[in-house]
Amino acid sequence: MPTTIAELARMKAAGEPIAMVTCYDHASALLCQAAGMKVLLVGDSLGQVVLGHRDTLSVSVGDMVRHAAAVVRGAPDALVVGDLPFLSYTSPAQAIESAGRLMREGQVGVVKLEGGRSIAPTVRTLVDFGIPVMGHLGFTPQSSHQIGVKVQGKSAEAAAAIIADADALQAAGACAIVLELIPAALAWAITERLTIPTIGIGAGAGCSGQVQVWHDILGFSGKPPFRHTRRFGEVGAAITSALSDYAGSVADGSFPTAANAATMDEAVVTAALA
Ligand code: KIV
Ligand code: NA
Repeated sequence: MPTTIAELARMKAAGEPIAMVTCYDHASALLCQAAGMKVLLVGDSLGQVVLGHRDTLSVSVGDMVRHAAAVVRGAPDALVVGDLPFLSYTSPAQAIESAGRLMREGQVGVVKLEGGRSIAPTVRTLVDFGIPVMGHLGFTPQSSHQIGVKVQGKSAEAAAAIIADADALQAAGACAIVLELIPAALAWAITERLTIPTIGIGAGAGCSGQVQVWHDILGFSGKPPFRHTRRFGEVGAAITSALSDYAGSVADGSFPTAANAATMDEAVVTAALA
């Protein structure tokens, strides 16, 4: 049985940190299932890390549905959260339509959307119709062209705005809130203030849990890690080495061997040629 949102609430109350990771495809979901990951995010970071775009804006509801469904099929025990993409929730009615597709076709358990007080009525509508919602405050990538790619909430005024947004999301019925790139002290204060869990990324250890991007923690890029992440593996280097080993083995004739293919009596081949 998948992890439930009640389990997330229990973990916050019990002081058990929640580990969440992004996941975008079936093969990766099988690995998450094997590792016992309880919460997965099919993030619209898909646009960047999987599809190679500059930002998340080009991701569509259809993209999210296809990738979410592949993840859910591979990780039956995880709570799978799916992002509502850019401009797919500009009204409560459109949000219901988009979230409905993510839940029915993508089979996600929770939808995530970006924004605070302005989006709270939409969150209320979704929750009233039975759709669990995770909020996302601080650095919100869908607004990066407006707010820049930087730490948010550093002044008292900016911090107060994020606090008011968090309060509004909780009041609207959100089941948790991602806090991205805000100072640790602010994330801690919000976590203390709210009853619902906070899931941080670049927001310090005071959150109820952490979310990290698959490619960042597994070492897929040769670039040095961002400050907010840590490479827990060097999977990119392992794959590169395996690929050059494979190509080299084909080139030097050491792969495939006789054991890698079916056998057939040569007389049968001769008969076939005749
Ligand atoms: O899309 C994503 O990967 C996210 C996380 C960084 C929170 O929204
Ligand atoms: Na996202």
